[in-house]
Amino acid sequence: MNSLTNTLYSNKHIGVLMGGASAEREISLRTGTAVLKALRAKKYQAHSIDVTASIAQALLKKKIAVAFIALHGKGGEDGTIQGTLEMLHIPYTGSGVLASALAMHKGMTKIILRYHRIPTADFQVITAETIERVDFHRKITVPLPLVVKPIAEGSTIGTSIVTHKRHLRSACRQAASCDRSILLERFIEGMEITTGIVDGKALPLIEIVPRDGFYSFRSKYTPGSTDYIVPARITKASAAKIQHLSLRAYHALGCEGVARVDLIVSHHRKQPYILEINTIPGMTETSLLPMAARSAGIEFDELVEKMLHTARLKEIQPEGRLK
Ligand SMILES: Nc1ncnc2c1ncn2[C@@H]1O[C@H](COP(=O)(O)OP(=O)(O)OP(=O)(O)O)[C@@H](O)[C@H]1O
Ligand SMILES: [Mg+2]
Repeated sequence: MNSLTNTLYSNKHIGVLMGGASAEREISLRTGTAVLKALRAKKYQAHSIDVTASIAQALLKKKIAVAFIALHGKGGEDGTIQGTLEMLHIPYTGSGVLASALAMHKGMTKIILRYHRIPTADFQVITAETIERVDFHRKITVPLPLVVKPIAEGSTIGTSIVTHKRHLRSACRQAASCDRSILLERFIEGMEITTGIVDGKALPLIEIVPRDGFYSFRSKYTPGSTDYIVPARITKASAAKIQHLSLRAYHALGCEGVARVDLIVSHHRKQPYILEINTIPGMTETSLLPMAARSAGIEFDELVEKMLHTARLKEIQPEGRLK
């Protein structure tokens, strides 16, 4: 960290944006609280800001000069708040408007990955209207077993694995209660891996082993229900390949700052498939990005400080940049 950057931030009001109205509000509050604590421990003037419709007034009133975005899901991870901060000329952490919007939308992510020939499972996007059609089953091109997901959710909300045709419609209806578009993706039987990215480099890989076999909302947030193995139990060559693929995916979407790339390595072909890219990964003390960072010797507070120092305006007005 150079001293110029330190001086630039030390006397500024930093807003930790958290909460919001997404389905992941509670997780965001946990992320935000942990970030706030770390910034204060490092003596920054950090303020907690719960995001509501009057966010612009709140930021201006509190004279926030830098925004640390600790939001997950809609309104926070999808380019919306990033656009607001661009308009207000407030530098912010992480990815810009476009990369955030693309990464939040699992269908657009996969289209871009395919364009770059980055492996991702076969898929199809349908709209909620299709579910109620009499010829619904004939419209589905992805073979069973498959995974049904809302197009832009997180934390496995609204997601299910479908093994029988008779469960397909109800799984799609469940996903449609979150989003008007639904992603159907070929189920990949294999080892679940996540790649943390910090400072443009891939961290040691985490292998995720949910005790009940599915990395559901419950498995993600109930302590003891999932085993995490760092580094993942794969060869050095496979790990290097996955890290390289994860970085390619990050760059293909135009991500900035930290991110976390989720993958499955098929048991059958030993082929890694990218599931998605999280531009605002969970940042509680027990979250995966801090876990991977710690295994690379980066403690939580230091990771948060590194993230703060990625804050900048990305889209417009170069004179507003905090470099
Ligand atoms: N194609 C697939 N094959 C096998 N399992 C899958 C597949 N897609 C998703 N899963 C399972 O569902 C979980 C959630 O999927 P995904 O990571 O795409 O969604 P998410 O809800 O956005 O996750 P996050 O909490 O990381 O934002 C994965 O962690 C994985 O366990
Ligand atoms: Mg995921």
